[in-house]
Amino acid sequence: MARILITSAIPYINGIKHLGNLVGSQLPADLYARYMRQRGHEVMFLCATDEHGTPAELAAAKAGKPVDEFCAEMHAVQAEIAAGFRLSFDKFGRSSSPQNHRLTQHFAAMLDKAGLIEEVSEKQVYSNTDGRFLPDRYIEGTCPNCGYDKARGDQCENCTKQLDPTDLIEPRSAISGSTDLEVRETKHLYLRQSQMRPRLTEWIDSKTDWPILTTSIAKKWLNDGEGLQDRGITRDLDWGVPVQRGDAPWPGMEGKVFYVWFDAPIEYIACAAEWAEEHALDDAAWERWWRTDRGADDVRYVQFMGKDNVPFHTLSFPTTIMGANSIDGQDWKLVDYIKAFNYLNYEGGQFSTSQGRGIFMDQALSILPADYWRWWLLSHAPETSDTEFTWENFQASINKDLADVLGNFVSRVTKFCRSKFSEAVPAGGTYTEVEHQLIADLTTRIRAYEGFMEAIEVRKAAAELRIIWTLGNEYLQSTAPWTVFKTDPDRAACIIRLSLNLIRIYAILSRPFIPDASAELLSAMHSDDDTWPDDVTAALQHLPVGHGFTVPEVTFAKITDEQRVEWQTRFAGIRN
Ligand code: 2FM
Ligand code: ZN
Repeated sequence: MARILITSAIPYINGIKHLGNLVGSQLPADLYARYMRQRGHEVMFLCATDEHGTPAELAAAKAGKPVDEFCAEMHAVQAEIAAGFRLSFDKFGRSSSPQNHRLTQHFAAMLDKAGLIEEVSEKQVYSNTDGRFLPDRYIEGTCPNCGYDKARGDQCENCTKQLDPTDLIEPRSAISGSTDLEVRETKHLYLRQSQMRPRLTEWIDSKTDWPILTTSIAKKWLNDGEGLQDRGITRDLDWGVPVQRGDAPWPGMEGKVFYVWFDAPIEYIACAAEWAEEHALDDAAWERWWRTDRGADDVRYVQFMGKDNVPFHTLSFPTTIMGANSIDGQDWKLVDYIKAFNYLNYEGGQFSTSQGRGIFMDQALSILPADYWRWWLLSHAPETSDTEFTWENFQASINKDLADVLGNFVSRVTKFCRSKFSEAVPAGGTYTEVEHQLIADLTTRIRAYEGFMEAIEVRKAAAELRIIWTLGNEYLQSTAPWTVFKTDPDRAACIIRLSLNLIRIYAILSRPFIPDASAELLSAMHSDDDTWPDDVTAALQHLPVGHGFTVPEVTFAKITDEQRVEWQTRFAGIRN
């Protein structure tokens, strides 16, 4: 049994996420967490809301609420939606937690001790109209790298380049739209990540098994010169983690807070501490996941994120960890594997939170069960390139994979058994060559499925699962129990006995993708034994003759053309 620490990029608190966000981190992380738990490993799956920084302040201002109140409310909303999608976090924390405050201040102190923090007098954009500095997203303008005209002061959403507010061309205030801006001097802390270039390079170079998407982005920023610039990690904002050296004040930094991208990844650690607190456990309980000197040396740590997050996770956060670890007695866990995703597009354009374009998580759940979305999103996960959501494709995939293949198999087998035998596993007949061949095929496919799940090859795993479902239908097609029954009921009983057992196997194998349907199928088979089918022959005999079952209600209803057209129209517009 292994111990696996899994984190999903923590979503900003500023609003409900769209399906592109979901498939880029939380959902595949959940797939992996569920699979690893099912295979008997000890898993710690963490996610949280990213509550600091300008996105939070701007959204709270827009909602007309104090930022702490806004964050508390939005956290509850996001937690409920995550539960609706069956995201099986061990803890869904908050980056504004006291644990994160303490750890962020602790890491800053360690980095300072390691000589990796520098106090810099820098030029910041000040808005005369707004009477304040405009850090990060408080300022918008044209990206100097790609020309995108809605680039934000901290990063260009279009080309992923990390920016400073002063880099923007034709900058304007995101609060008032004012262009009456000037540059003023103010003192900030800088993280000297450029010092870490040799170590980061060596570290990334050693990760030969990482997805190309991850290493190519990391190397690009590493070699770009600009990518590893020393960056300011403090801001002139009210809301955030106050700048302190551990418990001690940091002279000259009064009234400033740490930059959201400094404290957000530290929340991965703090979240485990929040988990321990929730379960009334001591520090040792979470430290065994995060401190290599306290038991985490045998933990495998896997991170999930969208490609825009890769630079922060391959350069900035590792700088924090490696830098702290250069101080005696600090032994924090570094990530072992980073799974990154491209973007999911929506009907010929981009999903966009700022412009309200696409399907948002709450809307998705209001029209269809979580499993439909989980299946489509995961089976179309943007792993090797950007992919596109279209309603046509969604309808076709769901109707084919879930309704025609899996649902139809379950329905045909259970209904036939009920009508010709009873609602119990029938006796009679023995295996023929067809069954032996099916077992061989299932075994090959299940082993391949396991391999893809281990390797976090999400689409390939989904494709393999689809083939495993198809094998059942092909088996029914070729053996035709409804015809055989007329002349040889024992033979039909044998086919149906195997097929009922196959439904249970499908429930177990499919659970990481479609947990609700899987639970429904398992309970329809009157079984709570979800042992993984290591031995397919044995698993196909698990439900003995006479074992009762219930014909499930329609497991997957087809999406009709009318529904598709209605949703296409409903979600074409702009969400306010
Ligand atoms: O891009 C985002 O949505 C960020 N909130 C992700 C932060 S991940 C991490 F660093 F915590
Ligand atoms: Zn750009």
